[in-house]
Amino acid sequence: MGVEEWKTTAAEAAAKLVKRDMVVGLGSGTTVAQVVRALAKKKSRAIFVPSSIYIQRLASELRLKLASLHEYRRLDLMIDGADEVDPDFNMIKGRGGAHTREKIVAGAAKRVVIVVDRTKLVKRLGEKMPVPVEVLPFAYKSAVHTLAELGGKPMLRTTSSGAPFVTDDGNYIIDAKFREVAKPKDLETKINHVPGVIENGIFIGVADIVIVGYEGGCKVLRSKKDFINFMHAFKKSIFNSSEAAL
Ligand code: 5RP
Repeated sequence: MGVEEWKTTAAEAAAKLVKRDMVVGLGSGTTVAQVVRALAKKKSRAIFVPSSIYIQRLASELRLKLASLHEYRRLDLMIDGADEVDPDFNMIKGRGGAHTREKIVAGAAKRVVIVVDRTKLVKRLGEKMPVPVEVLPFAYKSAVHTLAELGGKPMLRTTSSGAPFVTDDGNYIIDAKFREVAKPKDLETKINHVPGVIENGIFIGVADIVIVGYEGGCKVLRSKKDFINFMHAFKKSIFNSSEAAL
């Protein structure tokens, strides 16, 4: 069993969290594509808000019901992937260049579920991945200089033809590799203050649940906040059922 199977197992577990009356945000990337396939397979009747054109097309081809944030201000759930997840559930996202929209959709969701294979778990952010930074094309050169001053090694993301990679919103991505991201919250704020930067791929305090696919199946990791909510709901269900039994 390899990484692709680990992803599929975790994606199928995430799809089970989607109930028919929910409005669910979808992130982007290959793992979310697996979630979309699993949702289509179970003929989900929920409503989905995609955060990239790629996932929107896939979900529409597979006949999932779609909507946008203009129609739904508050979402029940968001399911997304990640490139790195640290033990405090801080993340680096944006290999697919969709992190700006993903942060917006996650911000509208009551609960955010992240689906990864175990290779994405790191001790400290920046161990493997650069921080993707979405930037206005007009400002990319000056942003490259400022990101270097912040201690990063910035590179404009390009396609296989050598042209700049362009996001769904017409912007460029600079991938800035930092030797280590000791204070992710500070770095997130500093990068977002660089003129021309629209959003960067450091996500703090966003994930409620992380579903990790690995050799033996998948593990569900809960943030402290989600664990407390989960215990409340569990106690409530026991209390209600014992009342019903009386
Ligand atoms: C896209 C993302 C993706 O969720 C992240 O890159 C993970 O992708 P994959 O599931 O393909 O490994 O942040 O902007």
